[in-house]
Amino acid sequence: MDVEEMKRRAAVEAVEYVKDGMIVGLGTGSTAKYAIEEIGRMVREGMEVIGIATSKQSEELARKNGIEIGDINEYEEIDVTIDGADEIDEKLNLIKGGGGALLREKIVAAASKMEVIVADERKLVKKFSFPLPVEVVKFGWRRTADKLSSMGFKPHLRHGFVTDNGNYILDCEYEELDEGMEGKINSIPGVVENGLFINMADIAIIAFKNGDVRKIKRL
Ligand code: 5RP
Repeated sequence: MDVEEMKRRAAVEAVEYVKDGMIVGLGTGSTAKYAIEEIGRMVREGMEVIGIATSKQSEELARKNGIEIGDINEYEEIDVTIDGADEIDEKLNLIKGGGGALLREKIVAAASKMEVIVADERKLVKKFSFPLPVEVVKFGWRRTADKLSSMGFKPHLRHGFVTDNGNYILDCEYEELDEGMEGKINSIPGVVENGLFINMADIAIIAFKNGDVRKIKRL
């Protein structure tokens, strides 16, 4: 199975959690894309859902696929969200934000009764190494980057990229990343949110090259 097939396979398994009448969080990225397309197919077959998009890109794709888009402020809870990840560890903690949508993704995940992560086997890791995306306001971003450096990170501005919220992304290299970093990074003035998702995923659906699909559930 090639990478695209693995992504699609994981996404197709995940949409089994989407039922008629649900409010559904729509993730961002090349794996979540397959879930949106699949939900679109189900909608064309008569299922009714309201999609809550995690990015402008996903909103556009969802609309193209015939999915009605709702405003997150109108719904107290999202029934299920299907999203991708850049890395997933065995405790189901995640690094997200490779596509730059981490802020909306985290808001949507936090409002979701169930967060389902879809990925191919390359994303499942013992130890995080993917540079941590940190969304920062433009004002004083170099000073914000200095604070991240003094915490031990090596931040790199994602050149030519502005988030859907009008902010910059600093991709931060590190030696070790512990769970406590999520809150510590967010306490730096200028940081809007970071891509460490601790205790947010409920289930990860991982597709393997050999055709296997593994579901890892939060204990
Ligand atoms: C976007 C994300 C994506 O979920 C993450 O980057 C994975 O994307 P892909 O499925 O394309 O590898 O967090 O902000």
